[in-house]
Amino acid sequence: MVPNFNPNLFINTLLILTTPLLFIISTSPTTSSSPSLSPPPSFPINVWPKPTTFRWPEPRRAHLLSSAFTISSPNHRHLSAAANRYLRLILTEHHRPLVPPPTAVLNASAAPLQALLVHVSDLAAPLVHGADESYSLKIPGGGGAARLTAKTAWGAMRGLETFSQLVWGEPSAVAVGVEVEDSPEYGHRGLMLDTSRNYYPVEDITRTIAAMSANKLNVFHWHVTDSQSFPLVVPSEPELAAKGSYGSDMVYTPDDVRRVVEFGLDHGVRVLPEIDSP
Ligand SMILES: *[C@@H]1O[C@H](CO)[C@@H](O)[C@H](O)[C@H]1NC(C)=O
Repeated sequence: MVPNFNPNLFINTLLILTTPLLFIISTSPTTSSSPSLSPPPSFPINVWPKPTTFRWPEPRRAHLLSSAFTISSPNHRHLSAAANRYLRLILTEHHRPLVPPPTAVLNASAAPLQALLVHVSDLAAPLVHGADESYSLKIPGGGGAARLTAKTAWGAMRGLETFSQLVWGEPSAVAVGVEVEDSPEYGHRGLMLDTSRNYYPVEDITRTIAAMSANKLNVFHWHVTDSQSFPLVVPSEPELAAKGSYGSDMVYTPDDVRRVVEFGLDHGVRVLPEIDSP
């Protein structure tokens, strides 16, 4: 018995076998004579997390940031705190990106950027699940202030984070001609910390929340208590922490909790407590 020869099957098989080879050939470098790597072709600045749209059209330019640079934002308990914090960061950090933008982008003879104006349409919007965190940011190349527009204070905080990532070096340079439109893909972007199995001092918690906010995360899921320990001081039931904590120096007082919640709000991070009973 001789198996029937099927020409179609043969050709298909041949294609399957050769396709990876063709792919390798077509993607191999065409400039094999030059051994040096060329710089990344497009994006010298990588805002993190990546905004929905980020435009920095050619020719990409950066201007100096004025040493008298200001952020003017509406009066809001938490947004004002965030604006002050970002202003300090922007004026003092002088951060050096891992992949520095080419120095050729800096036009040092252009007028330095003087101000970022923040506009929020609904200042009363609370930080709840599904809060509008969209924002748009424009840093003009032809002079004038940068503008950050958001529906809520929480969206404005995300925009401040993005702006801070567009400033680098010493003296500070800021990318101009930039337009960002951004809103998160997921409403809940959280991190959970279990302070029952392991106690963490309040400073560790606030440091964690600050890092979350730099990454535009918005929910700190605080797994406060469980069977292993009960560090939460509940004034109406003081024995829970007195007998249940790992030690009297390993508890969270009502003031500690207030501090964590306030710190979270100043950073656009909602604290979601989980209280498990022993
Ligand atoms: C640099 O800025 C100056 C002043 O605004 C302007 O005249 C000049 O064209 C700019 N140079 C480049 C290369 O953009």
